[in-house]
Amino acid sequence: MSVPTHIPVLLQETIEALAVQPGGRYIDCTLGAGGHAAAILDRSSPGGQLLGIDADPEAIKIATSRLEAHSSSILLVNENFADLEAICIKYDFLPVHGILFDLGLSSLQLNSHSRGFSFQHDAPLDMRLSPSQEVTAADIVNTSSETELAHLIKTYGEEARSHQIAYHIGQERPITTTLQLARVIEQAVGGRRGRLHPATRTFQALRIAVNHELEHLEAVLKQAINLLGYEGRLVVISYHSLEDRIVKQLMQQESKDCICPPGVPTCICGHKACLRLINKRVITPSPREVKLNPRSHSAKLRAAERLIIQDEYYRNAEEHSFSAHSSAKGWRRPALLKKLRVAFSTTLIR
Ligand SMILES: C[S@@+](CC[C@H](N)C(=O)[O-])C[C@H]1O[C@@H](n2cnc3c(N)ncnc32)[C@H](O)[C@@H]1O
Repeated sequence: MSVPTHIPVLLQETIEALAVQPGGRYIDCTLGAGGHAAAILDRSSPGGQLLGIDADPEAIKIATSRLEAHSSSILLVNENFADLEAICIKYDFLPVHGILFDLGLSSLQLNSHSRGFSFQHDAPLDMRLSPSQEVTAADIVNTSSETELAHLIKTYGEEARSHQIAYHIGQERPITTTLQLARVIEQAVGGRRGRLHPATRTFQALRIAVNHELEHLEAVLKQAINLLGYEGRLVVISYHSLEDRIVKQLMQQESKDCICPPGVPTCICGHKACLRLINKRVITPSPREVKLNPRSHSAKLRAAERLIIQDEYYRNAEEHSFSAHSSAKGWRRPALLKKLRVAFSTTLIR
């Protein structure tokens, strides 16, 4: 019997973009089945440390067993990455050399016959990443007004036929399973037209709404930037345009010294760049990777490096750089950690 698995997307590109080095400290905010995490741990050995986060307790179980060989170098926590800053403080995991987000769902979640993420299997309309969340997709489908549903399907699914779909859902409620919902959507739009199944966008919209995906992403990216040490890398792999837009806009904004609106003759914003873009153009999977792993087809990788924006820290750049830390084995020295915390507190972005 084949073991269910998830193939990590853009693996080599991710490790390169994170500039993983022996002795480094990394956070994988979307641990999943631990594929990227395993590669980070291999490359950061000896001495590397990894904090792995996943909202899904099943993912933590699977990754814990997969990463058993690295048990002394890992800390895996079942939390939502929206609380990244608090998690790092709680576990004293500061500062870090690299933070990874591989957004969305793992194949294990998509293939699950009980989680309700996919219309390939009949399952209760759930879609929660964590059982501790209160609201399921069925709650949204069955209790929202048709106007609210249409708005949600249009905004999070970028679905042009959102009103038609919402109207038909309204007529057929209660809807409790994935296949029932997929059938209602097919009827609403008159069957399949293009490459995508007509239910794809609505399922995406519901999943985003149930898990507050875009709000959490917006909130965590700023925290991640603030948690990175000098020259630390932020790497984000996204799978749809709504996620990618958030990542692209924030990285572009934070890599500019001035963000005044066009036409303002002299800068009045006082904004200072705290990131340097690593790849000016987005990185996408090769045709070979897409062929081997069709789920990678929509992946987009963006990466940026942390700059310290205060003069004082430019002067001390050598001391805060990765090479200085690893050669001095300074990551655990309380005095150095205290200094770095001060550095972070003076360069926080909001
Ligand atoms: C695409 S998978 C990651 C796969 C992983 N990189 C690997 O190679 O196995 C995304 C993971 O992120 C988790 N996730 C999504 N949003 C999250 C959030 N807000 N907080 C914590 N985990 C989240 C999902 O539960 C899922 O396991």
